[in-house]
Amino acid sequence: MKRPEPLILSIESSCDDSGAAVLRGREVLANVVYSQTVHETYGGVVPELASRAHSQTVVPTILAAMSQARVGFGDLDAVAATEGPGLLGSLLVGHGTAKAIAQSLGLPFIGVHHIQAHVLAHSLLEPGVQDRTLEGFPFLALVVSGGHTQLFDVRGPFDFRLLGGTLDDAVGEAFDKAAKMLGLPYPGGPEVDRRAELGNPDRFAFARMQTPGLDLSYSGLKTSILYAIAKEQKLRPDTLETDLNDWCASVRKALVQPLLDRLDRALMPDHQYAVLAGGVAANRLLRRAFAAWGLEKGLDVGIPPLSYATDNAAMIGAVAYYAFVEGRYSDMGRAASARLEVPSL
Ligand code: KG4
Ligand code: ZN
Repeated sequence: MKRPEPLILSIESSCDDSGAAVLRGREVLANVVYSQTVHETYGGVVPELASRAHSQTVVPTILAAMSQARVGFGDLDAVAATEGPGLLGSLLVGHGTAKAIAQSLGLPFIGVHHIQAHVLAHSLLEPGVQDRTLEGFPFLALVVSGGHTQLFDVRGPFDFRLLGGTLDDAVGEAFDKAAKMLGLPYPGGPEVDRRAELGNPDRFAFARMQTPGLDLSYSGLKTSILYAIAKEQKLRPDTLETDLNDWCASVRKALVQPLLDRLDRALMPDHQYAVLAGGVAANRLLRRAFAAWGLEKGLDVGIPPLSYATDNAAMIGAVAYYAFVEGRYSDMGRAASARLEVPSL
């Protein structure tokens, strides 16, 4: 008789979102995210406030996920949590809570790498919505978030090879900083994207990124955007009011184009498909361009639904599922870690 798929509770608390999810195998039965709003007034995530908010929300978030999934703690087969990388104080809350639940129920605990989870999120199945996912290895993954911008050759669920990445700012961070220069509230990435749809992407030009190979550098481009705004404001002081949509469209194009340039060069002949992962995968231009690139190459592409692209616990469950099947349990003595290498063989 076929063994029933494992039921796994997973928790994510690496930054400013508290997440809890319940998965039956790859199927997401519940995926609850509580996004902290306390940081908006500060224009960025305040680590001390984030960990305090996590400690308030972690248990209610878990209870909400369990109730939405209509399962009891006694039904679970394993408990998983993000182990790193991320803000240490935030990580400790979810990681410690997951270990305590696992220990009290006599279940295995699985510590998960946050970036590995973003990448494997494409393997999640939403019951009643999707009937298939992209499966198999190797594949190419582009991770774009507020904290990370990296390209991976993924040879197996626990075999990630870094091909290139940003040498300084992540693309999401660059979006948020550019948004701030344009006078938009934090986090401004989504608003730049929304306005960019209405603007002219060729109106303003910035310095081209010069990094060799598959690496990226957003800090020079950021400075170039700052100078371009200042220069234009000398001629037309109200440019950020009258031309805001054109600024957003030009900035978005400048930030997204270097990612597209590198995709082509990173693709290997044995890659079966390519996936986009992380919060910036919500970006409309990037989504369209990534899909068009896949068509041009005759390659399947995986673009996650938004609920699995931004920080969430279902993606932590996706990794935990692979770990459970392979019997890769974590020691209860493991600590969360702000810096953590992606797994590779
Ligand atoms: O993956 P994520 O939720 O959190 C991190 O792990 O960083 O990504 C959040 C980042 C923020 O920088 C946010 O501004 C950016 O993703 N972002 C976007 C869009 N939606 C979210 N950037 C550009 N366009 C969007 N539509
Ligand atoms: Zn993330």
